[in-house]
Amino acid sequence: MKHLLGIESMSLDDIHAILATAEEMHDVQHRPVKKLPTLRGRTVVNLFFEDSTRTRSSFELAAKWLSADAINVAAKGSSASKGESMRDTLTTLDAMGIDAIVMRHAGSGSVAQAAGWVEASMINAGDGTHEHPTQALLDAHAMLRHFRAHDLGTLEGKEVVIVGDLLHSRVVRSNALLLPQLGAHVTLVAPPTLLPPGVSAWNVDICHDLDAALPDADVVMMLRVQRERMLGGFFPSEREYTIRYGLTAARLQKLAPHAVIAHPGPLNRGLEISSAAADSARSIVLDQVSAGVAVRMSVLYHLLAA
Ligand code: NCD
Repeated sequence: MKHLLGIESMSLDDIHAILATAEEMHDVQHRPVKKLPTLRGRTVVNLFFEDSTRTRSSFELAAKWLSADAINVAAKGSSASKGESMRDTLTTLDAMGIDAIVMRHAGSGSVAQAAGWVEASMINAGDGTHEHPTQALLDAHAMLRHFRAHDLGTLEGKEVVIVGDLLHSRVVRSNALLLPQLGAHVTLVAPPTLLPPGVSAWNVDICHDLDAALPDADVVMMLRVQRERMLGGFFPSEREYTIRYGLTAARLQKLAPHAVIAHPGPLNRGLEISSAAADSARSIVLDQVSAGVAVRMSVLYHLLAA
C-alpha cells in the first residue's frame, strides 16, 4: 500500500494485515521502553487543517515509537492562514523530502486529491464527512481485543449499533464499510434529519428507535453531535435529542449484560452520552484511544517499511 485514503480503497487482505500488525504494536506500546528502530531515518508530517487531540497525538506517538522523525503542522499558525492554497502547502512540505503526510481537512475527498500532487504517502486522518479509516480500524481493534479477553469470539455475527449525528460523521462511513467485511452486522440509529444522503445503499440497517435497538447490541457506538458543522436546526432542542437518542443512565439498563459502549471522542457529556455510560465498567472509550496508537503504528509500518 502506498496511501491510506479510506476503507473503501483497502482490500480485505490489507485490512487483516493492518489489524494483525496492530496486535504486535500493542505489545510494544505496553513495554516500559517503547521504541522500535523500524522507521529510523523516515519523516512523517502531521498536517491538520482541523482540530484534533487523539488522532494527531496518537499519529505523532506512533511515528516516534517507530523511530521516525515527526513534525506537526497545524493550519492555524501555518501559511494556510495567510491564504496559501492547500496544494501549495502540500507541495512545499513534499519538496522537503518527507515520506508520509497524515492529513485532516474539512474537504471530503481532499486527501485523495492531495495524493495526486505529492511523492509522499498520504494518510487520511479525516476528510470532511467522507472517511476516517484509522478510526474504524482502531474501533475494530479495540472491539476484537475486548471480545478476545472475554471469550466472546470475533466480530463474526456481532451486532454493532451506531447512534447519533451520522450526517456529519466520517467515522460512521468508515465503520459501515469496515465492520460488515469483518462479519459484524451494523444498525444505524439517528433522527431522519441526521442520516447521511445515500445511506439506503449502505450495507446496514436503519432504525429511528434507540430503545428498540439497544437490547440486541453487542457494541453501542455513540457518535458526537457535531455542533460546529450544523448551520440549521437538525433537532428541536438538545434536551429533546438526549431524551430520544442519548445514552442516558436509564438506557444503560436496556443493554445486554456483556454489551460494551464505544465513542470515538470527543464526548459531549450530557448530550449524546451520560457520564454514567461513559465512565461505566462497560465503556471501552479509553481502550479505543489506546488502540489508536497501535493501529497507527501498524499503518505507518505497512506504508513505509513493509
Ligand atoms: C472524530 C473526527 O474527527 O472525525 N474524532 C476522532 O477523530 N476521534 C469524531 C468527531 O469529531 O466527533
